Amino acid sequence: MAGEGRERVRIYEVGPRDGLQAEATTLSTETKRRFIGLLVEAGLREIEATSFVSPKAIPQLADADELLPTLPRRDEVRYPVLVPNQRGLERAEAAGADAIAVFTAATDAYAEHNIGMTVAESLRAFGPILRAANDRGWWTRAYVSTAFGCPYTGRVAPERVVDLALRLAESGAGEIAISDTIGVGVPSQVGELVVRAAAAGLPEDRLAFHFHDTRGTALANVVAGLEAGVRCFDASTGGIGGSPFAPGTTGNLATEDLVYLLDGLGYEHGADLLGVLTAARFISDALGRTLLTKVGQAGGWDPATGRPIARG
Ligand code: COA
Ligand code: ZN
Repeated sequence: MAGEGRERVRIYEVGPRDGLQAEATTLSTETKRRFIGLLVEAGLREIEATSFVSPKAIPQLADADELLPTLPRRDEVRYPVLVPNQRGLERAEAAGADAIAVFTAATDAYAEHNIGMTVAESLRAFGPILRAANDRGWWTRAYVSTAFGCPYTGRVAPERVVDLALRLAESGAGEIAISDTIGVGVPSQVGELVVRAAAAGLPEDRLAFHFHDTRGTALANVVAGLEAGVRCFDASTGGIGGSPFAPGTTGNLATEDLVYLLDGLGYEHGADLLGVLTAARFISDALGRTLLTKVGQAGGWDPATGRPIARG
């Protein structure tokens, strides 16, 4: 695959949102700002910064209105934010957002737990939000959670995921993030989803994959996604976002592990491993936990000298 040269892959950083929303510790706005500043310095260019959801649902991100307007603004950096409803859209706009993500699930059980709507209800609710965002010229994304399996109802049929992805795209979502919320997927499923999506009229460049490394399959799934032609992958610096009830567990695919893989495969992505490791150590310290990601522990590796690369 190194022979493919410097083909570009987008790393979509979700640590400040997907990571922090699942941590038991609620960080100060200033600590979040510093974390995001380090991510920008590390060369990450798409950073999902926070959520304009109900503060009762996600108290960890209740400071979204104060955080977003004070983030370092650079032309090349995009800060998508999660928006669940009209109220969230209004808050996001007031805070200066120009990129949003809506989120539903492949199963009614998960959608009802997460956003209090069935999947069909969520599609009806998100249509006007996506339209409003598109009218404003904003970047848009829609998540399909539980695309590889649901904690309440088990197996999820790929047809269902593709059908939902297509409907979200037709509702105006620019990018569809197919998400393995509970980290149960394997590479054969990844490839199958991409093939089915293309056959249904949704090409690879409209897709992103959001993997959790709960069972150690995330990087293998990324490789399957790359081989299938997908060029956007979500990751969380420091692997933050494990279960708040099991401190020290890793949930999200770690950005440093993804960067190491992409560097080795020869893809261009703009992020600098040492910078990502600096941000990973910062956020682990802020959360009072040990950095347990693979590359966080071992460091990178310099092929020229054979020595580990680590900074902290
Ligand atoms: N921002 C701030 N507050 C909001 C809000 C928003 N976007 N949407 C709803 N609220 C408030 C309402 O004002 C209401 O407050 P009150 O009880 O003080 O009157 C309360 O939340 C309930 O509102 P309601 O419209 O009845 O919504 P709900 O209880 O059915 O909740 C969601 C629906 C979608 C707003 C809520 O489930 C949610 O925010 N979920 C997000 C979950 C999430 O982020 N999961 C992780 C991402 S994968
Ligand atoms: Zn996630």
